[in-house]
Amino acid sequence: MLKRTHHCAELRSADVGQDVVLAGWVNNYRDHGGVIFIDLRDRDGITQLVFHPESAEAHEAADRLRHEDVAVARGKVVSREEGMANPKLPTGEIEIDCTDVELLNKAETPPFVPDEAHKVGEEQRLRYRYIDLRRPRMMDILRTRHRVAKIMRDYFDEQGFYEIETPFLCRSTPEGARDFLVPARLQSGNFYALPQSPQLFKQILMVSGMDKYVQIVRCFRDEDPRADRQAEFTQLDLEMSFVEADDVMDTCEELMRRIWNQVLDVEVPAVRRMPYAEAMDRFGSDRPDLRFEMELVDVSDIAGQTEFKVFTSALAEGGIVKAIRVPGGAKMSRKETDGLAEWVKQFGAGGLPITKIEGGKVSTGIAKFIEPVSDAIVERMCAEDGDLICFGVDAKSTVVHRVLGELRVKIAQQLDMIDEGQWEWLWVVDFPMVEWDEGDRRWKSLHHPFTAPVDADLDKLESDTGAVNSKAYDLVLNGSELGGGSIRIHRPDVQQRVFRLLGIDEQEARMKFGFLLDALRYGAPPHGGIAFGLDRIVMHLCGTDNIRDVMAFPKTQNGADLMTEAPSPVDERQLQDLSLRLIGPVTES
Ligand code: AMO
Repeated sequence: MLKRTHHCAELRSADVGQDVVLAGWVNNYRDHGGVIFIDLRDRDGITQLVFHPESAEAHEAADRLRHEDVAVARGKVVSREEGMANPKLPTGEIEIDCTDVELLNKAETPPFVPDEAHKVGEEQRLRYRYIDLRRPRMMDILRTRHRVAKIMRDYFDEQGFYEIETPFLCRSTPEGARDFLVPARLQSGNFYALPQSPQLFKQILMVSGMDKYVQIVRCFRDEDPRADRQAEFTQLDLEMSFVEADDVMDTCEELMRRIWNQVLDVEVPAVRRMPYAEAMDRFGSDRPDLRFEMELVDVSDIAGQTEFKVFTSALAEGGIVKAIRVPGGAKMSRKETDGLAEWVKQFGAGGLPITKIEGGKVSTGIAKFIEPVSDAIVERMCAEDGDLICFGVDAKSTVVHRVLGELRVKIAQQLDMIDEGQWEWLWVVDFPMVEWDEGDRRWKSLHHPFTAPVDADLDKLESDTGAVNSKAYDLVLNGSELGGGSIRIHRPDVQQRVFRLLGIDEQEARMKFGFLLDALRYGAPPHGGIAFGLDRIVMHLCGTDNIRDVMAFPKTQNGADLMTEAPSPVDERQLQDLSLRLIGPVTES
């Protein structure tokens, strides 16, 4: 095989005259009156090869090359003829006048060619992922992902962190998502669980005195995949000893500054902080998108002065009425607003009362019910002609917040109100430690049970549980949660109390978390940390809202890897080894 001298994005006019050898895939071939042009592609780019009939042997071999054949070619770098330069390619001013070409591997006609991947469905692209990954866009994303991981590792190395691996075969402690289970052959009837995160191990590493830990680590959660969620994903996970929340946040902010600067040449300013209660009140979300306004405004007092049944009955049940003003939203058609009314039902809304503003007054929609308070609404909402006002009404404020929180994002997308080049960073802080789960009728952690309550609230852990704040923080970018963490509980008595109020009694706590409680008794330093979704960070940097785009081998909506056809049935012997018998029907894949 000819020895490669350059990659396919390397050569420029300054290299004219050099003898070179390039290797790669045939991206395209054309015969222009006997002269053959081949675009040779590799990981880095494309270079045009030219074969003249005078180099008979090479010309003949080139004539047989087809899409996705693998070839290596030797030739001289020459300038392209006047007017033939391709400004779209970095190598567009030159071409290689080839004297030799060697076919390294003939490709069968591929199911699609990389340049036309957009014409086939995602399923086809995932089934033939190796062809899909040949697209420059995918190469770019995976290159960015590599760079981000490298920046992270360099940064934390400079800051004195150790990268330490934690086990994948763990004890099952289901909290939050469902665990993926792995049967233990050597202890039949017992199971390992794949880690949902290395949370407990990183805390134990702090007890061990490792001081600063970091890991780029795969996590597994058996939940339904979504646009920004996969069952198997990667976290940047870290933990630090002898720190307060500010130390963790500052350390991470500096990292984000470095990543955005090095990858996108974008400056990240000091990230503002917003208490959870304010985020919910103003934006109806604990991860508000601050690239557009449409804040939630409480109009309960005004709504109470109307005779509109929808408002008055919700208020009578202790509910609230809030509204958002959609600037210019009056141009939305009846069909569009009806569509939104249908859409918000999934968040628990009974409907979506709306009105438009015309001539300084409410008009259309529910206008006839709220006419008497028209001026008050217009004033409170700072509304102008051409605006649309959408109301959130429910006996539960959580429903109102959820509905309007989701709606403002939906409308911003629908009306193209988002500047895609804008970055709005936010730390959400002062989270309540727990929230009441009406279904299970018990307190649940907002983050996880190892999150420390603020010191001033320790006294009211049991007496006023819902009012206890925690030392947790989430980093939000453009309405998406990049990461979340907290200062942890490092005292065994406090951890016991928190378990107790989460409905985990002493025996259960011992059984599930005995090792943690023991560790906390043998010299646990104050500590805290955070974990970021690496996939989500790369999604932002690459401008995609599909998490599958930033993973080399992602899974589909129903958890399948279409290329390897995982998951798959296993044979009877394997089950026997594991002392397992299937009782349900096997899903056909
Ligand atoms: P948490 O569960 O909030 O915290 O996860 C941290 C971050 O991981 C990302 N993430 C996901 N990304 C893709 N697919 C998923 N299914 C998925 N689930 C989570 C998100 C999220 O913000 N141990 C704690 C962290 C800590 O307290 O230090 C934890 O795992 O970006």
